[in-house]
Amino acid sequence: MTVIRAARPTDVDSLMVIEADSFPTTAWRREQMVDELTRDTRRYLIADDDGRPVGYAGLFLSPPDADVQTMAVAGSHRGQGIGTLLMQELLAVAWDEDCTRVFLEVRADNEAALALYTHFGFLRLGRRPRYYPDGMDAITMRLRRHEPVPLTEVPGV
Ligand SMILES: CC(C)(COP(=O)(O)OP(=O)(O)OC[C@H]1O[C@@H](n2cnc3c(N)ncnc32)[C@H](O)[C@@H]1OP(=O)(O)O)[C@@H](O)C(=O)NCCC(=O)NCCS
Repeated sequence: MTVIRAARPTDVDSLMVIEADSFPTTAWRREQMVDELTRDTRRYLIADDDGRPVGYAGLFLSPPDADVQTMAVAGSHRGQGIGTLLMQELLAVAWDEDCTRVFLEVRADNEAALALYTHFGFLRLGRRPRYYPDGMDAITMRLRRHEPVPLTEVPGV
């Protein structure tokens, strides 16, 4: 069974495997991951499948704003709702920590992530040309607490 729990510094090795697999050209170094997991302003969550981390997501808290720092699910576990669970819990943390807006950046060609964020009601704010090292643009998105999902953002409507 997969549960969502707070990340611990001892998760770092498992996370680095998922990180390297999920972000082949932009993976964080181990020291960066350790730094993220231990900073006061960060909150990292783990999707734990019977004791094995299979996904993670992190927030930078700066109330009233929060930024999604990263999010990844192991390739073997994608498409099973784990990303959705992680985002639900991440947003619960943001609202609980008195944030009212959550921001993120996502590669313009990352259809899976864009669809996931749109499901949660994130709206596109803008595009940052050539933001990533390989020249891909970034899409910036924002979710406001209690913001309804606009009809134009609901797939199939
Ligand atoms: C993005 C990611 C975290 C989604 O995790 P996941 O556990 O597969 O997501 P879920 O199973 O909860 O799917 C949630 C929604 O995402 C969208 N989605 C997931 N996989 C998709 C795919 N391959 N293509 C299009 N949409 C997809 C769907 O809208 C899906 O909702 P639905 O099942 O109701 O159609 C995962 O694909 C991943 O780790 N990718 C590599 C790392 C990455 O890109 N992280 C995001 C950086 S901004």
